[in-house]
Amino acid sequence: MNKKILVTGGLGYIGSHTVVALQQSGYEVVIIDDLSNSELFVLDRISEITGIQPDFHPIDLKETEAVNDFFETAKIDGVIHFAAHKAVGESVEKPLMYFRNNILGLVNVLEAMKKNSIDNFIFSSSCTVYGQADKMPIDENAPIKKAESPYAKTKQMGEEILEDFVSAYDKNVISLRYFNPVGAHPSALIGELPKGIPNNLVPFVTQTAAGIREQLSVFGDDYPTRDGTAIRDYIYVCDLADAHVKALNRLLEKKNSEPLEVFNLGTGVGSTVLEVIKTFEKVNGLNLNYRIVGRRAGDITEAFADNRKAARELGWEPKTSLDESMRTAWEWQKTL
Ligand code: UFG
Repeated sequence: MNKKILVTGGLGYIGSHTVVALQQSGYEVVIIDDLSNSELFVLDRISEITGIQPDFHPIDLKETEAVNDFFETAKIDGVIHFAAHKAVGESVEKPLMYFRNNILGLVNVLEAMKKNSIDNFIFSSSCTVYGQADKMPIDENAPIKKAESPYAKTKQMGEEILEDFVSAYDKNVISLRYFNPVGAHPSALIGELPKGIPNNLVPFVTQTAAGIREQLSVFGDDYPTRDGTAIRDYIYVCDLADAHVKALNRLLEKKNSEPLEVFNLGTGVGSTVLEVIKTFEKVNGLNLNYRIVGRRAGDITEAFADNRKAARELGWEPKTSLDESMRTAWEWQKTL
């Protein structure tokens, strides 16, 4: 029998791509999503790609009883937990909403796992837990600095909660620290669906190219980098999805070396904002309307991953170039 995996937030950006990858690897997937930052049509798109309609439950993870009811009947072999709010700026304005959603949701799921003897859990973490790291590339042993935002705090706290969870209840957890996820599925049937004005670079780029936004602002060209703009590690979303399948296999095959393992997921290569723009223009044959403005508050100079631990332990390597990410991001935008 196929193993049954719960994907919370499975209709969201990384979640939906991971659901596709899991189904294509033979897993049976059940999705919980409260549709607070996702759309129901994604469910049909997933089944258009894979030929399998995932089981879907529109549950709010803050509702303890609903979560418990679900787990009592569902018979799950593992959980991949994406469901969380993720806008840095919004988290500064509404910190309590972030703690309530991201922490209570996590604790409810963990408690239900404990009650129902479910052992395997994968957590969506972020390179944001490192803050401005002292040296590049960033490896998993880099110190966790004071968080820059309530959003970042929820990821740091999430990992701390998991530390205690594995040791008290004998569970197995992998925390995946994503760098900057970009691009869309090659089918252009699923991709990122930002609500309102995008905060992140690539959706702002594609919306500017589509004429939805008049101009892209490049936040700062006075950073100490090769062209003055900030450096990030842009990782293709389907490569990220693939890492979740590998992490899950590792847990189910009991190949993990510690009860709580942490992996960076990035390309290992940093790109400047201007390099991203140039790549987007080149591969799609477009000119982007952009201008340089001042730095954005809270931004760091650079972050890119040392991804060797994921290569060594998970057998995961990113396969997709920034060119291909930028091409798929535009193909997806054109369908919207
Ligand atoms: N940028 C622009 N113009 C824009 C948007 C972004 O120049 O309109 C620049 C930023 O200043 C930054 C780079 O593009 O230098 C990337 O910015 P993003 O907002 O796309 O991503 P961040 O690196 O700020 O990512 C952070 C955290 C992630 C988190 C994400 C959520 O590192 O963990 O915010 O918004 F998921």
